[in-house]
Amino acid sequence: MTKAVSQDALEVRVRRIHRRDLNRTWEFLKLVFRDVNRETVEYQRPRSKRRFMEVYTSEWIEQLLYEVDGEIVGYSECAYEATGDDNWVNPRWFEKRGMRPLFVEELAVHPNYQGRGVGSFMLDQLQHLARTRGCTHLVLEVAENNESALAWYRARTFYKLDAAIFLAQKVPGEPDLLPPRRIKRKLKPAEEGAATPATGPTPASPNTRGGARRGRTPTAKSAKKGS
Ligand SMILES: CC(C)(COP(=O)(O)OP(=O)(O)OC[C@H]1O[C@@H](n2cnc3c(N)ncnc32)[C@H](O)[C@@H]1OP(=O)(O)O)[C@@H](O)C(=O)NCCC(=O)NCCS
Repeated sequence: MTKAVSQDALEVRVRRIHRRDLNRTWEFLKLVFRDVNRETVEYQRPRSKRRFMEVYTSEWIEQLLYEVDGEIVGYSECAYEATGDDNWVNPRWFEKRGMRPLFVEELAVHPNYQGRGVGSFMLDQLQHLARTRGCTHLVLEVAENNESALAWYRARTFYKLDAAIFLAQKVPGEPDLLPPRRIKRKLKPAEEGAATPATGPTPASPNTRGGARRGRTPTAKSAKKGS
């Protein structure tokens, strides 16, 4: 159950994450990103629990928890190196421009605590880490249609670097499933005899693509064979 949130001043404490916090933090992240993920093509994280657990063991990644009275109200994750198998960052792009980025991989505030300055405190913390580690920029990825987060970053002097834009083109095509088919009842052998005229082959109907099917009215070929 979520605690009632006091409207008074908040005392937010920041600390490094411990192994024992991982499950609780994972649940926290799922809650924060539930609505955000519904609206974006790319998962805005967290991607998978397995990956989240692996992050904990990475020496390049700093995971911080922000708490009010022992309850997690915020989480930040930042990396000093662009690491991970699915990483798309090209470090040379930054090198060429004399930038030493601190990659902000995650910034999440509990929905009940958003708009109360927790995110700003977290950003100050990340700026502080960047300075103490000799980084020159905070760099992050945000979905263009995560409008509230984007506006929040823009209001804090974040600017656009370069971006992958998701494009889509409609492929003209047919549906996978066939249209309804009217299927005639299959005649039993006794009915078949009655239905077949005694003399000569039946000419192929123009609608049956080369004549009647096997087991039904004999075609010219089968009639000839049987005679
Ligand atoms: C984006 C996000 C991190 C911002 O965190 P937040 O705690 O809501 O941010 P803040 O409270 O510091 O700022 C929000 C507003 O509250 C206002 N505010 C209210 N009380 C404040 C206080 N005491 N101190 C500072 N700002 C305060 C700020 O002015 C700010 O308005 P502005 O953006 O127009 O300047 C948070 O909304 C979030 O977790 N969103 C969902 C997850 C997400 O999308 N993350 C980013 C993915 S890349």
